[in-house]
Amino acid sequence: MHPMLNVAVKAARRAGNVIQRASLNLDTIRVEKKKSNDFVTEVDRAAEEAIIDVIHEAYPRHAILAEESGAKGMGSAEFEWIIDPIDGTTNFIHGHPQYAISIALAHKGQIQQAVVFDPNRNDLYTATRGVGAFLNDRRIRVSRRIQLNECVIATGFPVVDQSMIDTYLAILKDVIGKSAGARREGAASLDLCNVACGRVDGFFEFNLKPWDIAAGSLIVQEAGGIVTDMHGEQTWLESGDIVAASPKVLAQLLQIIAPHVKG
Ligand code: IPD
Ligand code: CA
Ligand code: CA
Repeated sequence: MHPMLNVAVKAARRAGNVIQRASLNLDTIRVEKKKSNDFVTEVDRAAEEAIIDVIHEAYPRHAILAEESGAKGMGSAEFEWIIDPIDGTTNFIHGHPQYAISIALAHKGQIQQAVVFDPNRNDLYTATRGVGAFLNDRRIRVSRRIQLNECVIATGFPVVDQSMIDTYLAILKDVIGKSAGARREGAASLDLCNVACGRVDGFFEFNLKPWDIAAGSLIVQEAGGIVTDMHGEQTWLESGDIVAASPKVLAQLLQIIAPHVKG
């Protein structure tokens, strides 16, 4: 395993311990509202601190972009770690076991290493650019289905910024009509990992943040999938608008989405 990936795995497992210990006493966890439908807990912060401690112990000069504590050391460093300590905080708060720790490492702006750790299933997804994607050390591949009407498509509802909810619902209606079904599980990093190992055939969501998708996207790409924005372009990390699937399914999803997001 690449040494930097090894550090990411150690950090993710350390955070997993913090989170799962806290999950035993959910009733006592303090929840704050950042905005409407956007929550943070002391556990998000403690898990993030644990991750950054592990990374900085190994690489003190690397930059960090983390959801709860923001950006540190950017601009000067070639290496940047992109961290979501709990992706799926709303699920976590509700005791709904669908959340993950997401850690990516970018070198000169290109994502090179990725870890998504699901502490409830003890599922560790990893990828290194050019080496492949793995679930618990076994190689994973995107699904082989090619007809959208046989495919299950994961998505996320626009809950924080609802400015384009009507556009989103029109797309969802078309996707439901033309696929074998849609799923909304509530953790974008795991949605992407589910694409990477063929548990769903595609995924789309608007308005995500880099820490939601940086790691999961490399895992999809290394599993043979494609990641684009809603126009088939490569702005997904900046725009947060993302579609991920195998090449044939991606083309069919873009055909549905494109007419709704033109101009
Ligand atoms: C959220 C999850 C969810 C997505 C939201 C994200 P958080 O991340 O990824 O699936 O629909 O848009 O904000 O806030 O739980 O880290
Ligand atoms: Ca997130
Ligand atoms: Ca989060």
